[in-house]
Amino acid sequence: MALSVVILAAGQGKRMRSELPKVLHCLAGKPLLEHVVTTTHGLDSHLTPLVIYGHAGEKVQHALAHLNVTWVPQSEQLGTGHALLQAMPFIPDDHRILVLYGDVPLISIATLKKFIATTDANSIGILTAHLPNPHGLGRILRNKQNDIIGVIEEKDADEHQRYLNEINSGIYLLPAAYVKKSLPLLQNNNAQKEYYLTDIIGHAAQNNMPIQSMLVRTHEEILGVNDKVQLSVLERYFQYQHAEKLMRDGVTIIDPHRIDIRGEVSVGNDTTIDVNVIFEGHVKIGKHCSIGPNSILKNVILGDHVEIKANCVIDGAEIAAGCIIGPFARIRPGTTLDLHSHVGNFVEIKNSMIGAGSKINHLSYIGDTDIGKKVNVGAGTITCNYDGVNKHRTIIEDNVFIGSNSQLVAPVTIGEGATIGAGSTITRNAPPYQLTICRATQRSIDNWQRPTKKED
Ligand code: UD1
Ligand code: CA
Repeated sequence: MALSVVILAAGQGKRMRSELPKVLHCLAGKPLLEHVVTTTHGLDSHLTPLVIYGHAGEKVQHALAHLNVTWVPQSEQLGTGHALLQAMPFIPDDHRILVLYGDVPLISIATLKKFIATTDANSIGILTAHLPNPHGLGRILRNKQNDIIGVIEEKDADEHQRYLNEINSGIYLLPAAYVKKSLPLLQNNNAQKEYYLTDIIGHAAQNNMPIQSMLVRTHEEILGVNDKVQLSVLERYFQYQHAEKLMRDGVTIIDPHRIDIRGEVSVGNDTTIDVNVIFEGHVKIGKHCSIGPNSILKNVILGDHVEIKANCVIDGAEIAAGCIIGPFARIRPGTTLDLHSHVGNFVEIKNSMIGAGSKINHLSYIGDTDIGKKVNVGAGTITCNYDGVNKHRTIIEDNVFIGSNSQLVAPVTIGEGATIGAGSTITRNAPPYQLTICRATQRSIDNWQRPTKKED
């Protein structure tokens, strides 16, 4: 039976106490709703989920405009049953519906695949879990034969029902034709005065509609985010899962509770990651690398045997094997470092190519520059790439030596093998294999007196 997916995401999320709609809050750097949409595409890349949006809907649509979904408005948030009702005109009668939630971000593709495969197409499927602390969630009601007879919300439950710890994940598989018949029958005579989707379970039981349940193996998968405490619990769970996978793949992580992955990361084995490292975007790290503490790597490719020392910020760079970077280096987008080059402390590099074996070890700014092989850039070198209006490039050819505290005013070329004397401000091209120096001649003044302090 063909599948339609509906993601309920119209609620305000009052308990978040935030101006941002709940489903736009991020887990691992990605909005909650985007996690769920990505999961549905993992189920079947041709699926276009129907997303029920409402509260601050424009913000949600705008922030997630890149997603392949059909947006379905729910103008008033009258409950989960009313939310699903909005999607029904888009769903053929012979489909079955997988209901997901914009605030339940970690439901896995594996669980959903198993749920779909094991639920009979003409039955109602409901995903449940036994939770040690079921507080706040709907409870599954069963009769003496252990058949499901309904779901009761915590707010509507009596003392005995609150004691039950099998909870409703809210994730269902529902035959569309049945939903079309039963949703219009929902009533809102409950504690929250809402049209509860959960009531169709009780309705199904009364009408002898078969109901199948499946327990999830890891209950974090079905935990919802209703407030910022729950968000942080899921964030840490998600991060630990990621760290565990990397460790199993042969990566040494000094403290798996102090790593954050906000994107796609692949790491070669025998690489060591020290504490408080953040990865963002697409990061690919080779084998035998070491990433020092407190570093941020975003959209970075590292070859093998790269050493990143403590406190580096690297964004949009490709770094070849054997490079040594940091501590305290900042590498900005458009930068490539060739084999075995070194970048030391308090060096900023932007949109530049650094050739093999070259060194920029201390206190420098290198922007819009092409540096050849085996170049030594002395401490305090600045490429003056901006004239106030336009950016210009600096070319430094192979085997150049730039003396400390030099300024290279772009556009300018330093020819192969050239030496620039320390303290020079270079405004014209420097010829190859010569010493070019541009500073006042040193002189000493005889009988010069230091000023002395005046007596009052
Ligand atoms: C719901 C279930 C509860 C289950 C829990 C699991 C109902 C009545 N209760 O409770 O049994 O244990 O999920 O997480 O279904 N939404 C809309 N429109 C609305 C109301 C809600 O789109 O009018 C969306 C919300 O944005 C959210 C989801 O539906 O993504 C669930 O709503 P929420 O109010 O969080 O329900 P829970 O109290 O968590
Ligand atoms: Ca919820």
